[in-house]
Amino acid sequence: MRDFRASCAWVIPCLALAGVARVAGSSVEPATDPDRRAAAVEARLTDSERFQLLHGIMALPPGPNDQWSLPPGLKITAGYVQGVARLGIPDLMETDASLGVVNPLQLRPDDVATALPSGLAIASTFDADLAYLGGATIGAEARAKGFNVMLAGGVNLARDPRNGRNFEYLGEDPLLAGTLDGSAIAGIQSQGVVSTMKHFALNDQETLRATIDARIDRSALRESDLLAFELALARGRPGSVMCAYNRVNGEYSCGNEWLLNRVLKGDWGYPGWVMSDWGAVHDASDFSKGLDQESGSQLDSKVWFDAPLRAELTAGRITKAQLSAAVRRILRSLYAVGADRAPEEGPIDYGAHAKVAQRLAEEGIVLLKNRGALPLPKDAHSILIVGGHADVGVLSGGGSSQVTPYGGKSVVIPVGAPGEIGAIVRALYMPSPPLAALQAALPQATVEFQSGYDVATAAAAAARVDAVVVFATQWQNEGYDHASMDLPEGQDALIEALAGVNRKLIVVLETGNPVKMPWIDGVDAVLEAWYPGERGGSAIADVLTGAANPSGRLPMSFPVNESQLPRPAVPGLGLPQGSPATVDYAEGSDVGYRWYAKRRSTPLFPFGFGLSYTTFDVSGLRVSVKPGAQWGLTARFAVKNTGQRAGTAVPQVYLVSRSGVPTLRLAGFMRVPLGPGESRNAEVTIDPHLLGRWDEERNGWRIDAGRYGFALGTSAADLGERSTAVLAAARIRP
Ligand code: BGC
Repeated sequence: MRDFRASCAWVIPCLALAGVARVAGSSVEPATDPDRRAAAVEARLTDSERFQLLHGIMALPPGPNDQWSLPPGLKITAGYVQGVARLGIPDLMETDASLGVVNPLQLRPDDVATALPSGLAIASTFDADLAYLGGATIGAEARAKGFNVMLAGGVNLARDPRNGRNFEYLGEDPLLAGTLDGSAIAGIQSQGVVSTMKHFALNDQETLRATIDARIDRSALRESDLLAFELALARGRPGSVMCAYNRVNGEYSCGNEWLLNRVLKGDWGYPGWVMSDWGAVHDASDFSKGLDQESGSQLDSKVWFDAPLRAELTAGRITKAQLSAAVRRILRSLYAVGADRAPEEGPIDYGAHAKVAQRLAEEGIVLLKNRGALPLPKDAHSILIVGGHADVGVLSGGGSSQVTPYGGKSVVIPVGAPGEIGAIVRALYMPSPPLAALQAALPQATVEFQSGYDVATAAAAAARVDAVVVFATQWQNEGYDHASMDLPEGQDALIEALAGVNRKLIVVLETGNPVKMPWIDGVDAVLEAWYPGERGGSAIADVLTGAANPSGRLPMSFPVNESQLPRPAVPGLGLPQGSPATVDYAEGSDVGYRWYAKRRSTPLFPFGFGLSYTTFDVSGLRVSVKPGAQWGLTARFAVKNTGQRAGTAVPQVYLVSRSGVPTLRLAGFMRVPLGPGESRNAEVTIDPHLLGRWDEERNGWRIDAGRYGFALGTSAADLGERSTAVLAAARIRP
């Protein structure tokens, strides 16, 4: 057996392979002392230039009733802040977002970009190195397209499986989400592009997002959503943070003194700048509460950070020192990241980047059930593909994060919706049709397609073939939640009808969230492919045929139905935009698997779950205090591939008790690739934040002396061997 530790060593060669040359050639040379440089440059600005840096616009063409116009020649994009040329301060050219460089509403003619799979797919890889590589890939593209700020880095926890934006985020667990988000941010910033951790905080549902008050106990917030942000911040050091639309415990996030000044800038010592979400500023006084910059200012009722903020200065309600500090934060991030060099447009190796998108999609696909239909046998003669527009492509999520993909013409189905973002409500199919990919991968078989539009016709065709692969889609879009976890448009009935006529029925889900599966007992196999990005069809075909062995694990629990959720209905759903509403996060830090464990209820599929075409044995857990450290812990164990194929195990270590009191929290995880019969010793380090409790009175993390119990598992609901470690009392500053 050889020793195996998670390592970033392969990232640099991989980046070079992926055509991300900038890191390999290291042309990004962040300033050694960004604070000093920022102070020196800031001191030379006039007040007027200072205010100019504190507000920006949404750089989209005005509508017929709009009163504003864009500076001539400005590139269409999500955000623009004018720089100060005389001091070499570049314009901030801001682009969405986490899944690739967005071309808003395809208003930049013919401008395509690499479209990574959704955030949930990325999270399912449990692979921080790959998340970094994805970040570096889209960061390199942003720079080559002339952007120096990416609005990428969404890390809101998935508290509700109906949230229309979960697909952009990284699941329900703070360690997994924080680790992968921090890695993606670091990857983007390795390319000299600022990344933006968002939406700070508790923007955990889209319904009434501009008015809703998210209520939660402060300690519980520190141990859940804020923990994800805290871990991502420590790992990724994002140059900017975007505050959210919603209120948190009564105050709007972008004017929330406690969140911005106390937690982010105070407790966490965050040195970068806070930008608002687009249309999330409500008053010039938000500035003294910790907001540094107003984004997309046309969407606010006034350009608050221009004349009204100047008036605040004149009236002495803000000081010159505060004004300078906000500007210094922006400059220091540009210098720290190397984003002060005016972005120069350059060539992009889309072919190499597509390989990164495909790898993320393959590693992110989760095999949920397999009675033996998969991998598809090489000698199958006839296979029927049904539904999901599998003949044209794979679905993506809608909204500001939607990328216009490289690789062919995408099909866009307008969906339409009320409200100010109705125009971006549409379902885009990425040009990677699973049908063509399967036909290419199975040349000996007849692979035919039925749309599934008429259930009886599809069932008649399904009765005559060796195997049926039905694609089921659940489209989701920023700004809207779903009322239920149902697959829409009668797809459950389609699956049931097909299951009734062919026992070899494989369901491939392309969803933005967990869905209900009333047909689960009648189908042979289920694959969760999420929104798999621009190479999704090829990735799905590789997994279905066994060219790739599935290794994704669920970053969210799949409940049986809505009655298992903390809130059976989405608060405020159906009320007109602008209505006041409250969401009470009474479950506190018991998000996802912690909630099911506490309620002793069994979800359909647990967090961390995923099957492989091989089998693994994980054993020999030993948790010990790191030599010389009071509370730093290491978990060691062995992993063996007990099957016939190469595959990747994803062992997980959970904290299960503190001094005999049961709890459940993911404390460590890693991917271990293994050949058939191969064994490895593995080791993960446990971050002390995951062991302690937040002490609101003392404003810090507290680890009580005692015996801490850990379990080695393959999911949050399949916990095997136990080990304990005795810890001395300790306090950790936030
Ligand atoms: C979204 C942000 C996005 C911004 C700019 C907002 O509606 O919430 O995530 O970055 O628009 O497009």
